[in-house]
Amino acid sequence: MIQTIKSAKSFHGTVTVPGDKSISHRALMFGAIARGETIITNLAPGKDVQSTRHCIEQLGIKVQTDKKNLHVHGAGLKRFRPSDKALSAGNSGTTMRLISGILAAQPFTSTLTGDASLSRRPMDRIIKPLSQMGANIQAGPGGTAPLKILGKKLHPIHYHSPVASAQVKSCVLLAGLHTEGVTSVTEPALSRDHSERLLQAFGVPITRNDLTVAVEGPARLQGISILVPGDISAAAFWMVAACLLPNSSIIIQDVGINPTRTGILSSLEQMGCEININNERVTGGEPVADLMIRSSRLRGSVIEGNMIPQLVDEIPILAVAALFADGVTHIKDAKELRVKETDRIAALEKNIRLMGGEIETFNDGFTIKGPQKLKGAVLNSFGDHRIAMAFAVAGLFADGETVIQNAECAEISYPGFYHDLRMLSYV
Ligand code: S3P
Repeated sequence: MIQTIKSAKSFHGTVTVPGDKSISHRALMFGAIARGETIITNLAPGKDVQSTRHCIEQLGIKVQTDKKNLHVHGAGLKRFRPSDKALSAGNSGTTMRLISGILAAQPFTSTLTGDASLSRRPMDRIIKPLSQMGANIQAGPGGTAPLKILGKKLHPIHYHSPVASAQVKSCVLLAGLHTEGVTSVTEPALSRDHSERLLQAFGVPITRNDLTVAVEGPARLQGISILVPGDISAAAFWMVAACLLPNSSIIIQDVGINPTRTGILSSLEQMGCEININNERVTGGEPVADLMIRSSRLRGSVIEGNMIPQLVDEIPILAVAALFADGVTHIKDAKELRVKETDRIAALEKNIRLMGGEIETFNDGFTIKGPQKLKGAVLNSFGDHRIAMAFAVAGLFADGETVIQNAECAEISYPGFYHDLRMLSYV
């Protein structure tokens, strides 16, 4: 599917974004290994979270939908039923990496597959710690999917992760819940802490000491009701559009503002963006607010180090902001972008150049000097939802029309994205 984007004069309105993808995966998986019913409101509607739903259903978990909610009938720990077919994680790294931590401890063998993109992404980062816990996992060349997981009795470990990855951390903690004793993970920088917050809501005590987090197994999770906040990673596209277009203002309601995810807010504010955070409250252990963003003149910034895990998924849209900011923006320490749904540094470089813009890339980031003038062009999403959506927003500022090829991948995290884009832009 292609999407044609016209340049816009301003950006206005009030919008809600889909439920948070990271929290939704966890709500489904934790609900599946809890006892009793978990009721989830505002589950993320995208394809990634559907993959998680299908996986747990294939493992014998009953999931029902009513008008507003999703009901997960949890089985308890080590109570999954073997699936005679392979479990497909689709495009979703979170599905594959988190569920591996649960499957490694089941008393049966499972096979996990992914689409072409996921089958290229590194799984050795979870195979290594799980193997240290006693798991037996067979992978393709270079530690890639498909994964054959031969379930075993696992033992606790203390793991020092070389990457700041919530997927790795959550995978090890989930495996740890199935052991006898304390499992801990130390990460080089704090990654998103949704697993820690939600496990606590399910009744699992969590201990944290700086960058180390620990759980004690065997754990007992009890089903709960969860209201999933709006996804700040989806809201980021509208923040940047409203900030960059003149005479614009937008309200994004019910957005999750967990401090391990708000790097986009602090970075845009540092660049000069006017953001008002209103109506702050807490739902299900997660802070939520309404965000108001107004057109602002942006200036370049340096984004690096511990900040990167707090906004790792927002870097493509931050690159778009940098193109129109005064001065130089440097993104450093972000080599994780090379192993996302596509190599996002390479994808940014190709598309920015096709629009007549300039970017200097490095192994772990890039430099953009703004402000630049972009022209409409035919661009590829590279099958990566965040690249498709970032360049659809870039198209609002370009001279002439921008065509996004393979635009349907936006449905991975934001079905209705192009509809909302048209609703909010004034041409
Ligand atoms: C996620 C963690 C991040 C992020 C991904 C979702 C999660 O990945 O990029 O979109 O839900 O735990 P890493 O753990 O690889 O950093």
